[in-house]
Amino acid sequence: MKKIAVVYWSGGGNTEAMATAAADGAKKAGGDPALFRVNEFSAQDMKEYDGFLFGCPAMGAEVLEESEFEPFFREAESKLSGVPVGLFGSYGWGGGEWMRQWEARVKDDGAKLVEKGLAIENAPDEKGLVDCAARGEILVKALA
Ligand SMILES: Cc1cc2nc3c(=O)[nH]c(=O)nc-3n(C[C@H](O)[C@H](O)[C@H](O)COP(=O)(O)O)c2cc1C
Repeated sequence: MKKIAVVYWSGGGNTEAMATAAADGAKKAGGDPALFRVNEFSAQDMKEYDGFLFGCPAMGAEVLEESEFEPFFREAESKLSGVPVGLFGSYGWGGGEWMRQWEARVKDDGAKLVEKGLAIENAPDEKGLVDCAARGEILVKALA
């Protein structure tokens, strides 16, 4: 069974709801997902996993959250070459610009982005949660 780490930061719970749904989707698709807040996970732990779903909302001015997620992700980037990855997160008013920049960044790192990053405005509704679960499924299929 393919091991997937779902690693996220969430201040208000929107990205957390997305993370939970993505992990559920990965499990239903036959994967073995583990859910971590970013402060419970380090780049050194990445060797234990076959693929990753990273979640972070748009913060600052169209950037990743700067005190916990960005430092983790900067370290993680050196370990992403050839690795299947999915991205997700919630945003408020920026139209998803932070996600486009994040996608470009992981592509530069050589990661295999399994699909476009999933950006949801504020709290995910029912369809949003289905989309999150689908991201989990897509990653499991990419690992098969
Ligand atoms: C300090 C701060 C900065 C933010 N910056 C942006 C931004 O640049 N662009 C944007 O679209 N939303 C921005 N937002 C809105 C959040 O991305 C949005 O509220 C999101 O749903 C938060 O997700 P969370 O509940 O997982 O923390 C910001 C929110 C906060 C609190």
